[in-house]
Amino acid sequence: MMVAILSVIAEQNPLKAWELNMNSLFNILELAKSGYIKRLFWPSSIAVFGPDTPKEMTPQDTVIKPSTVYGISKLAGENWCSYYSNKYGVDVRSIRYPGLISYKTTPGGGTTDYAVEIFYEAIKRKSYNCFLEKDTVLPMMYMDDAINATIGIMQPESLPSYISYNLGAFSFSPHELAEAIKNKIPEFTISYNPDARQEIARTWPQSIDDSMARNDWGWEPTVGLEEMVDVMLQGLHYNI
Ligand code: SER
Repeated sequence: MMVAILSVIAEQNPLKAWELNMNSLFNILELAKSGYIKRLFWPSSIAVFGPDTPKEMTPQDTVIKPSTVYGISKLAGENWCSYYSNKYGVDVRSIRYPGLISYKTTPGGGTTDYAVEIFYEAIKRKSYNCFLEKDTVLPMMYMDDAINATIGIMQPESLPSYISYNLGAFSFSPHELAEAIKNKIPEFTISYNPDARQEIARTWPQSIDDSMARNDWGWEPTVGLEEMVDVMLQGLHYNI
């Protein structure tokens, strides 16, 4: 079960987001504590990082002071998982996902949504009006890799200790993604009209040091930017 209100919607209704994002976690932590669930997963996010965090190759352990409601709830969740792990021996695993890209689900109120929306518009209108600035680089991942990571972290009988693992795959800016799409759809054009979401993106990392995930449970991404663009266009039935 994965339940959360994402970054943009959470800013519009902070208390509701806090309630949903946290209560759903407490419900399952309590079930695990009582022995009804053997192993738990807590989906965290790059949103735990904030404006004071180093942006390039953001380390696992670093300044972690989120500036969004979503980031605050994800970080609190990380800490509660740590508490239940230490205090009650609950086996809980966690990943800090970057922006996730898939053609199977439509975007749902996140700051990284543009990287999915752009494909629908590229196919339908051959143009896209982006809500982030041209050069805003964010870490992203194709959904299949995210699913593999989620399965991968749940497999080992044990891990060195509970941490919410940094996870990276590739990073790009709206401009770079537009160029990659243009290679497949030459008429495609992009314009920029940054809104409040730019303020959120500005506080997040540009790239992620995920060496601990690689060392501890063998994480390795398989899909890069170009392949992701191909798969997205094909998945949305554009003949490339
Ligand atoms: N993709 C999420 C968002 O943009 C971040 O975890 O809110």
